[in-house]
Amino acid sequence: MNKQKRRILVTSALPYANGAIHLGHMLEYIQTDIWARFQRAQGHECYFAWADDAHGTPIMLRAQSENISPDELIDRMNAEHQQDFSDFGLSFDNYATTHGEANRQCVETIYQRLKAGGHIERRTISQFYDEQKGMFLPDRFIKGICPKCKTEDQYGDSCESCGSTYSPTDLIEPRSAVSGTAPVMRDSEHYFVRLSEFENRLQDWMTSGALQPEVVNKMQEWFEDGLRDWDISRDEPYFGFKIPGTDDKYFYVWVDAPIGYMASFKELSERIGLDFDDWWKADTETELYNFVGKDIIYFHTLFWPAMLMGSGFRTPTAVFAHGFLTVDGAKMSKTRGTFIQARTYLDHLNPDYLRYYFCARLGAGLGDIDLNLDDFVSRVNSDMVGKVVNIASRCAGFIQRGSDGQLASELPEPLLYQQFIDQREHIADDFEKRNYQSAIRRIMALADTGNRYIDEHKPWQLNKQEGQQANVQAICTQGVNLFRVLMTYLAPVVPFTAGTAAEFLGLSLDRWSDLDQPMLDVSINKFQPLMTRVDPLKIETMIEDSKEHLQSTETPCKPALELAAEITIEDFLKLDLRVATIINAEAVAEADKLLQLTLDIGGETRNVFAGIKSAYEPADLIGRHTIMVANLKPRKMRFGVSEGMVLAAGPGGSDLFILSPDDGAKAGMRVT
Ligand code: MSP
Ligand code: ZN
Repeated sequence: MNKQKRRILVTSALPYANGAIHLGHMLEYIQTDIWARFQRAQGHECYFAWADDAHGTPIMLRAQSENISPDELIDRMNAEHQQDFSDFGLSFDNYATTHGEANRQCVETIYQRLKAGGHIERRTISQFYDEQKGMFLPDRFIKGICPKCKTEDQYGDSCESCGSTYSPTDLIEPRSAVSGTAPVMRDSEHYFVRLSEFENRLQDWMTSGALQPEVVNKMQEWFEDGLRDWDISRDEPYFGFKIPGTDDKYFYVWVDAPIGYMASFKELSERIGLDFDDWWKADTETELYNFVGKDIIYFHTLFWPAMLMGSGFRTPTAVFAHGFLTVDGAKMSKTRGTFIQARTYLDHLNPDYLRYYFCARLGAGLGDIDLNLDDFVSRVNSDMVGKVVNIASRCAGFIQRGSDGQLASELPEPLLYQQFIDQREHIADDFEKRNYQSAIRRIMALADTGNRYIDEHKPWQLNKQEGQQANVQAICTQGVNLFRVLMTYLAPVVPFTAGTAAEFLGLSLDRWSDLDQPMLDVSINKFQPLMTRVDPLKIETMIEDSKEHLQSTETPCKPALELAAEITIEDFLKLDLRVATIINAEAVAEADKLLQLTLDIGGETRNVFAGIKSAYEPADLIGRHTIMVANLKPRKMRFGVSEGMVLAAGPGGSDLFILSPDDGAKAGMRVT
């Protein structure tokens, strides 16, 4: 193998510090970790450094709602995140926070250089302002009626119903999602990076092999639309870093978040003595890879490289984007219990199971990855337990008891061993290109070959015959060696299992080049169970526990954001709430979210449009009860007049609930 030692830094996208890690995050972090471990196993110098993304409005508001300081919140989350990551076997070399000193220095350096290079412009813009809260409102904190399709309760940047994008000022009846009040327009000076100045360099970088073809296509669309100036400042109150030379302006969180990659490496370089400048200078020979989800490509292929170009630093060697995790074919859902937090998983199941499963499903593209729970159980059990571990457990006892733990001094079938290590380059190539599923396919094909070898030679039969001891030892020596090759290939994927296997074999599985020498004439240790079968009952309890999370931990963080302003009892008494029977329900063809309901409120029928299509099939609703606001002023919509509003419980999407038909209520009953 002609291998030059490469120097590589890999990163994952920084999780926000206002929430727990879930299995969607873990898909990315496991993908990154396998790659980093794989590179080290090839003998390269490879670091994995990243951080918590600690700044921004949501974090500020979450701290307020918990009545703690943002610092307290982000410290707590940082500790929890790191614990989750270590327990999942992530081999990161440093985990920082974007709120740290190292990041402040990096951000200021980059900003000063951009400014000196004439890339920053100041300009006054007008934006929505919440007078009650005393803050400018980010797009996501403004809600109103979609200007296009007139669906209510849409965010300030885009409509979930018709998919159109617009600016918050286009919303009809806008209101602040923080206080519920109507926002006013207010002027403020903002700082912009002129992105278009980087267009040519970004195009060169894009075509240098740094990006997947799907991502290049996306970027081409953005170039065609024209690159707009990027607003990098935010007004007080904000949780972030102040822009030097101002009293009340902060860097937008997406400025300092990617710079967090650099800052985390800076901390690492100071701790272990690496030459920071050598890694980050424009013409460096070191490599930098950013693993990110497909939702944040824009930030990583335009803003982030432009900032680096404008400040004379190196750009990423490549950005690796991946798709989203679904569970049992659907978006993770809190009500179904498939919104599984990392900690909940760890409470019930072995982290190597998930690492293996994700690896077996991951490819190099941007397609979504499904965690199918039945498939998860059968894949892990049949591949890892039934094929790989099985080879070791079938051979270990005979070597232990029959040969005092000693392996034979030669392999009975050296060609078979050779066949196993001949796959090394192909498997390495797959891992290098992130075709993990292909690597796993090759490894499992070898595992089948190994098992076939043992099946054919039947050491358990020979062991019962006189004078066959040397033969049994030879066969099992072959088996143990094949197992060692497989486990070496799998070590980046299942580090905990590989650790136990290394103890059993009495040698390290860290380097693929070690496989040049088979294990001969050495003694092995007592076999320990490497991986037990997945117990489907544990999956059920994990799902149950994930459902509980909804009640116990999710609700307290929401109110500050979602609760409307306080009302008096007089306000409440104005509502005429009635039990209604749904006597007809039909989809509204022109609107993704709406159902047209015919409601019986005790002798009177009402026509109501309700945004619950994502949760219910129309036919399933007929005959059921709901509570309706009967005295809501009728509203003319594109499809007809809506004569009231129905109430449902839940966070939205498919998680919405109305009453059941057998609750004893009668149409027309007043709700008290
Ligand atoms: N803080 C930003 C990233 C800043 S990077 C300079 C952010 N945070 S996040 O917590 O929302 O997401 C972190 C990473 O996890 C992103 O790459 C995101 O795509 C990924 N995922 C979050 N949910 C996911 C799934 N359900 N499936 C796969 N990846 C997902 O974005
Ligand atoms: Zn719309």
